[in-house]
Amino acid sequence: MAKTSVRRIILDVDTGIDDAWALIYALRAPTLDVLGITTGFGNADVDTTTRNTLAVTDLLQSRVPVYRGAVKPLCRPWDGPVTSYHGVNGLGNASVPDPLRPPENTEAVDFLHQVLTALPHEVTIVTLARLTNIARLLLYDPHVAPLISRLVIMGGAAFVPGNVTPVAEANIWGDPEAADLVFQSGIPITMVGLDVTHRARLTWDDLDRLDSSLPYAAMMRDATAFYLKAYERDHPEMQGWCPIHDPLAVAVAEDPSLVAVRRYPVRVEHAGRWTTGMTVVDARMGEQPHGIEVALDLNAPAFLHRFWDRVGIAPA
Ligand code: RIB
Ligand code: CA
Repeated sequence: MAKTSVRRIILDVDTGIDDAWALIYALRAPTLDVLGITTGFGNADVDTTTRNTLAVTDLLQSRVPVYRGAVKPLCRPWDGPVTSYHGVNGLGNASVPDPLRPPENTEAVDFLHQVLTALPHEVTIVTLARLTNIARLLLYDPHVAPLISRLVIMGGAAFVPGNVTPVAEANIWGDPEAADLVFQSGIPITMVGLDVTHRARLTWDDLDRLDSSLPYAAMMRDATAFYLKAYERDHPEMQGWCPIHDPLAVAVAEDPSLVAVRRYPVRVEHAGRWTTGMTVVDARMGEQPHGIEVALDLNAPAFLHRFWDRVGIAPA
């Protein structure tokens, strides 16, 4: 029988409703070994995202270490929590149990540095938030860049509109200087942006099929109902479903064949009057061997069946 290989990953999160689904997916995936979770500001302030992350791990009976990270973007003030999509508590105002443990004493950047130097070329980092923690790591020690096996980034919009501005996706918009530094670092990157995450869809019917005996079911049902209603309120084209951005990035880290990629140079605009946060994908000269892997197509049925299986949603 073929041996299934296990991929070592670190998750960087701003938990967040779709982050919570991504954590559940990753921590229940037998083929993923989650070495640690780093947190940052984004959907909520960093204390809230750290608390939510710990609460989700508790519900999964996981003791994976959680490291508190960035409080604000590299060069700008933080523009505040995304309460209209994630509620005031980051989890759609659902009831969230108090965490059973605090975060680790080590700061996120120190943890990343320690793991990457101990396990060179062995760790994939899956970023589901602003790229501030990774940029701060590169500023702290640029020599760690070649030690990262791959970054799978939920962020950006290549050839589709943004979700914060006409051209900017939230994780890039939220710290564009950090994002550009990371995209320019030479680290192998797969960009899982809105081109594909808007095809990764969770419906009301899916939510009804979530196994209610699971310890996280009630919290995630309430949180996701809030998220679904927010998308339905703001997007006439998203009636009955919401994009599950972050779980798709975890799934791509687990199985890159879920998406079709093209390798292009990518820069992040951070000085534009109307275009700050845009991922500028240069497709003019065709694919470049050392370009960023930009995900442009998704095997949505394969992803969804895997997502349902991992998180405890019965097949449709
Ligand atoms: O644009 C979607 C991304 O922004 C997701 O990671 C979501 O959780 C927010 O961080
Ligand atoms: Ca997120």
